[in-house]
Amino acid sequence: MDKYIIDGGRRLHGSVRAQSAKNSVLPLFAASVLTEKQVRICETPPITDVFCMAQILRELGADVSFENGSVLIDSSDAHSHIISSALTRELRSSVFMLGSLLSRFGRAVIAYPGGCDIGLRPIDLHLNALKRLGVRISEREGYIYCECEKLKGAEIVLDFPSVGATENIMLAGVKAEGRTVLQGAAKEPEIVDLQNFLNGMGASIRGAGTDEIEIEGVPRLNGIEYTPVKDRIEAGTFLIACALCGGEVEVEGVTAENLGMLLHKLRENGCKIHTKNDKIYLSSTGRLKCNRRIETMPFPGFPTDLQAQITALNTVSEGGALIVENLFETRFKYVPELRRMGADIEVRGRNAFVRGVGSLHGATVTCGDLRGGAALVLAALRAEGVSEVLDLSHIDRGYSDLEGKLRALGAEIKRVRI
Ligand code: UD1
Repeated sequence: MDKYIIDGGRRLHGSVRAQSAKNSVLPLFAASVLTEKQVRICETPPITDVFCMAQILRELGADVSFENGSVLIDSSDAHSHIISSALTRELRSSVFMLGSLLSRFGRAVIAYPGGCDIGLRPIDLHLNALKRLGVRISEREGYIYCECEKLKGAEIVLDFPSVGATENIMLAGVKAEGRTVLQGAAKEPEIVDLQNFLNGMGASIRGAGTDEIEIEGVPRLNGIEYTPVKDRIEAGTFLIACALCGGEVEVEGVTAENLGMLLHKLRENGCKIHTKNDKIYLSSTGRLKCNRRIETMPFPGFPTDLQAQITALNTVSEGGALIVENLFETRFKYVPELRRMGADIEVRGRNAFVRGVGSLHGATVTCGDLRGGAALVLAALRAEGVSEVLDLSHIDRGYSDLEGKLRALGAEIKRVRI
């Protein structure tokens, strides 16, 4: 198990390029099972969620190889429709495999998915939508059994714009018989990316990025070579790091449109930001004002995956902030760790009340989930003195070489094996 040793208080300067989006790459892996032709996903980040998804495809009988940053997936020999519990518990995104496996084999067996420990994370919306497409579902001993003769297009309404359910419906509907119309769809940029990927394979989907998606089923899909959209959450993490530490950074790869609400909030803090094409420039004095209120919402609202990082920023800013977490009920588990560094935060249910304290001090803290872990790293970069951040396995799920990229911006951070 590795840890970071961080000597805080350095300003950040320089340029960093975002990796491909984790939340895009994972459904693209699932989508690759929909064709027997070869799929190449370029610029795939070496993060453990990706390795885990590769392992899931291999278990199904697909050939997955990594070369020069690309991943080659050949699922012509895929024969299994069962995903073992060890892998689905590691990675919640394995739930997308339901749509793909039903489309390919007419059957899927999958253990209840895992992922970050940030709340209940039910999958009722996924299962109800699949039922609408003609799937019979039963649950026994922690496994979900799905089968159908032929997926049939249908009209589906989602009560809540779930990202995963929207993607699952696209994966199940793309080769279904007839037309599927999804209302109440999630609008995240990664969903647009999945549409572009599938259409590049010969699918007929439109509307991604709006709340209504129309899918005209096609009999088969071709192979594809594709470069995914860049990771707005990783990019946002670097922008918040610079806001916290003070300095000037350029983050490349993500458009302002995909990070609109974060940029709005960082301007409210007092950061200077300008944007050009896929570059975002931020400068910060490091002495900022609190955001009065931030509520996490589905896109284009404030992303729950940046909630912990912006909370860290508010801990050292002037004034007070109310952070409301609307998506995942236990996503404040990192708060006691921030308190060890001197943060003043009170959590009541979905609300965190932050009182800005001006400065944090170094401490030993432990990551409990991916984004909460990133927030601890950011707080340590700002804190006075040395911090140790333990249990990096959570961070490794979603950030590739976080320490190297931060070091290139001037941070004092090293990774040590313990
Ligand atoms: C995806 C992202 C995750 C992000 C989240 C919200 C991936 C791999 N992960 O997760 O990083 O934090 O979107 O932007 O893309 N819900 C139900 N029933 C369901 C499905 C969801 O009640 O069947 C609820 C969840 O409990 C949660 C909310 O809907 O409160 C949002 O979940 P969802 O959008 O599905 O998130 P994920 O797809 O799991």
